[in-house]
Amino acid sequence: MSSLVYSNILLQVPEETFYRVPLIPVHGVPLIKPIATSWERIEKFQARSDDLLIATYPKAGTTWMQEIVDCIMNQGEVEKTSRAPIHVRSPFLEGNPPPPIKCGVDVLKVTPSPRMVKTHLPFALVPESFWHQKCKVIYVARNAKDSAVSYYHFAQMNKLLPEPGTWDEYAVKFLSGDVAWGNWFSHVLGWWNARDKHDILYLFYEDMKEDPKREIRKVMKFLGKDLSEDVVEKIHQHTSFTAMKENPLTNYSSIPSSVLDQSLSPFMRKGEVGDWMNHFTESQNQIFDEEYRKKMEGSTLMFRCKVW
Ligand code: A3P
Repeated sequence: MSSLVYSNILLQVPEETFYRVPLIPVHGVPLIKPIATSWERIEKFQARSDDLLIATYPKAGTTWMQEIVDCIMNQGEVEKTSRAPIHVRSPFLEGNPPPPIKCGVDVLKVTPSPRMVKTHLPFALVPESFWHQKCKVIYVARNAKDSAVSYYHFAQMNKLLPEPGTWDEYAVKFLSGDVAWGNWFSHVLGWWNARDKHDILYLFYEDMKEDPKREIRKVMKFLGKDLSEDVVEKIHQHTSFTAMKENPLTNYSSIPSSVLDQSLSPFMRKGEVGDWMNHFTESQNQIFDEEYRKKMEGSTLMFRCKVW
């Protein structure tokens, strides 16, 4: 057992239940144990028609999009985002942290509408009620190579994930989908193929980096919000990498280091396109490209993974 302080609550956490435990497949998708073991409750989650689902493969810029959406929902009054950390303002649907902290499903039950729900679930695993209720979804995708590098660093600092091993070992695991929330290819393709059947806005991290204000305007339009250019500029400043890195409500510094050890790698790490070039060997790059060609063949989904 280890003791940790989480939002002023002293926890006695059975390490073997939560920390560095192997993944468990749910409908063929490897998930972290506390999520897999509470799957029935997650599957039965009752969405409301005014829920907004923010869906991503891990490390695609989820937190960035959550903060942008909260600013827009508050008509650009960015000061209102200081009411709570981002994981409280926009609860993690399948999140199941150590008790007595409540799981995402329970937190969402008492969250007033309109709710901003975060998920990393692949399209096929999203609770059916979201589709029955015709909820809006914003999906953010990030290129595979930068996602792999970002996820590798995150797995080092996030004790709820299995040990990543060396970068060489992790690159193999990532490519085969042996990581939490499964295969990157199936995830981005599953959501891409669903985008015309549901109310889904499909965005790219690389586009957000290239022209953040253009992408903020796309989100505003999707949410039916008409805000002035001054407000768009204010949201842009508030959600820049530098501002979010310094903001304790978006940099996850409120989570104890026994769960997220930011001394190993900060949550707000680099925030760049093309950092993969600092990690991939020539041979890893070739293997990745080959797999990419096979898996993405025939799809209209295109990614950019270099600085331009
Ligand atoms: P890096 O590890 O490449 O730096 P998520 O929120 O889905 O976990 O994604 C985290 C990744 O998004 C991290 O990538 C993080 O630095 C990056 N990120 C978070 N906020 C950002 C912002 N405002 N601008 C650019 N990148 C951001």
